[in-house]
Amino acid sequence: MPKLKLITFGCQANELDSERIVGLLAREGYELIERDEEADLIILNTCAIREKAEQKAYSRLGTFQELKRRKKGLRIGLCGCVAQQEGQALLARFPYLDFVVGPAQLTSLPRLLRDETNRGLATARTPTFSYPVSAPVYRRSAVKAWVSIMEGCDRFCTFCVVPFTRGRERSRPLQEIVEEIRGLKQRGYREVTLLGQTVNSYGKKLRPPASFVELLETIDRVVEGEMRVRFTSPYPGDVTQELAEAMASLPSLCEHMHLPVQSGSDRTLRRMKRGYSRDDYLKKVELLRTKTPALALTTDIIVGFPGETERDFEETLSLIQEVGYDGAFIFKYSTRPHTPAAGLSDQVTEEIKGRRLEQALGLLNSLSLARNRAYLGRTVEVLVDHEDVKRDAVRVAGRTRENKIVHFSGEGPTDGDLVLVAITGASALHLQGELICANGAKSSGKKDLTTLRPLSMIS
Ligand code: SAH
Ligand code: F3S
Repeated sequence: MPKLKLITFGCQANELDSERIVGLLAREGYELIERDEEADLIILNTCAIREKAEQKAYSRLGTFQELKRRKKGLRIGLCGCVAQQEGQALLARFPYLDFVVGPAQLTSLPRLLRDETNRGLATARTPTFSYPVSAPVYRRSAVKAWVSIMEGCDRFCTFCVVPFTRGRERSRPLQEIVEEIRGLKQRGYREVTLLGQTVNSYGKKLRPPASFVELLETIDRVVEGEMRVRFTSPYPGDVTQELAEAMASLPSLCEHMHLPVQSGSDRTLRRMKRGYSRDDYLKKVELLRTKTPALALTTDIIVGFPGETERDFEETLSLIQEVGYDGAFIFKYSTRPHTPAAGLSDQVTEEIKGRRLEQALGLLNSLSLARNRAYLGRTVEVLVDHEDVKRDAVRVAGRTRENKIVHFSGEGPTDGDLVLVAITGASALHLQGELICANGAKSSGKKDLTTLRPLSMIS
């Protein structure tokens, strides 16, 4: 059996693409392995969102040059957003690279691999392709699954490379998504996360059109309370009254939303072409919290966007304070090819970006800590997944419906169990607690997660 080593960088969409790559190649006879030296095929599934992510992929690729020289027959491929962005140039720059495949071209992988005579390239001028339902997915977890409901993005925020690497927005037919989730439920999955770049813009371009809320309602009926449902990431402009009501009323929908804001300054938001103002965003937050008081909110923020003044930055700080986020990813602005912001002349220095990042993180941590301390003494429902405490039999980890990570002790619970935990400790990033009891509901289709078994876990 030929052996595949796969390295994934970047977001959940990439994690899911990696599960697709393994699924496709398992059908070609490949087995997934961990050790570089054993591999017959090494694939890097790359991320282009910030320069650092791209550099990381190149430096990892560089470490395989020597192995390639030593090991006859070893093939090395680069997939993902860097592949789409750079295309042919990668084959010229890295002579030991065998093929380059964009995210919308994954199904050409088997064909490229069968043809050993050529160095292959499969990228699209405009990525439009959606992954066919019939193609296999290898799922790493037997508890939580990602399901892509739409791909690409039409918004063209001025800093963002995604519309160029993942193409225009396209939604999967509603029934197809629902069938995939029905299948996951039958196989014992306990949680599904719906993925899309602007996930709540789902369905606008379908004929006939479907709405995101209609999709959520249909999924809620199908999972019958046996699975948690999450989605990421919604676009603030498309948070509607109906969505706020669905969040409050559908039992399967978890009380967490990751709602990227990017900046608290109207001037910066305009220059980013985000399509909403600070006040619009705050009104959406208020709408959501009025309907769902327990809602946990997280966000993405960029500091040091070109032209960001001290005053703009202070407005971001005051927005973080005003919302009181449960958590956030804060990034230093990074110049990306093709994007309009790359051409702006008033770039902010690295030093200022670094200072702003530290300052924003400091504020965020104090707010997240306060939000988490409010859980002290409460009892929460935790879906056990051990994700954060691998190789430790006694310490258990899982997530609350609000997506808070909880650590607790106990030999009993296994992955996929829903348990009740009394919260006894809180930090900015985690909660700690004591197991009170198993909550009854048991996952029927649990599998052994300690080893990777590609073939047995393909859907
Ligand atoms: N709509 C997508 C956004 C994907 S990019 C989603 O929500 O999934 C994820 C985050 O990366 C963005 O929200 C933004 O905060 C950050 N990001 C994107 N381009 C960036 C850039 N050029 N520099 C720094 N951060 C960036
Ligand atoms: Fe990027 Fe803006 Fe779309 S951040 S993914 S262009 S909504």
